Amino acid sequence: MAATENGAAVAESGKDEMARNVENLTPFQRLVRSRRSVRRFLDRPVEREKLLACAEAARLAPSAENVEPWRFVILDDPELRQRFAEAAFSGIYRPTRWAAKAPVLVAILARPDIFANRIGKQIQGTNYYLIDIGIAGEHFVLQAHELGLGTCWIGWFHEKKARKALGLSRKYKVVSILAVGYPEPREPKPKKRRALEEIVFFNDVPK
Ligand SMILES: Cc1cc2nc3c(=O)[nH]c(=O)nc-3n(C[C@H](O)[C@H](O)[C@H](O)COP(=O)(O)O)c2cc1C
Repeated sequence: MAATENGAAVAESGKDEMARNVENLTPFQRLVRSRRSVRRFLDRPVEREKLLACAEAARLAPSAENVEPWRFVILDDPELRQRFAEAAFSGIYRPTRWAAKAPVLVAILARPDIFANRIGKQIQGTNYYLIDIGIAGEHFVLQAHELGLGTCWIGWFHEKKARKALGLSRKYKVVSILAVGYPEPREPKPKKRRALEEIVFFNDVPK
């Protein structure tokens, strides 16, 4: 596949993207290439200003019909966080217990009952709020990364217990959790991703 400006469409199979053309990358390209899921954190509190900057990035995300279905419950109080983690990462969700050590857990909530969401689901069969949460959450994650914070999306958790631990009303659903904190220093591993030619189809479709 041919390269375009800034190497954006460079995807020679089998080559490590990180090693290629690093100097010509834009700040955004550098940011998305260097982000990794972080599961080990330093025992260092995260400044509220940084968390608010991440929430601000999420706030500006687009959403279907601009309904902004998201709410972000940021747990940086160790006791509250611990109680939440014990509930959310219990039973078959125990493998996610590592996240209890993150200095901050963010419960990303959605209101699936908003009119536009119900219509979207009924007519088109699409849960738009999940798309919206994904976009806003990733804005949060990328802003965090730019500020030197590590994050990991968490989908493997006990939703009902998480909701109960937060004392949430039924109109909110905990869609995902983000673990946030300063990352333990580690050698970055190359990203495992499909090559562009496997996922992009100009005037064609996958077979
Ligand atoms: C919606 C979603 C849910 C995820 N759930 C979990 C999870 O429950 N536990 C976990 O360790 N990682 C989880 N991850 C992280 C993925 O494993 C990770 O993004 C993927 O392996 C790619 O690695 P990278 O983020 O370092 O590029 C989740 C990621 C997403 C986007």
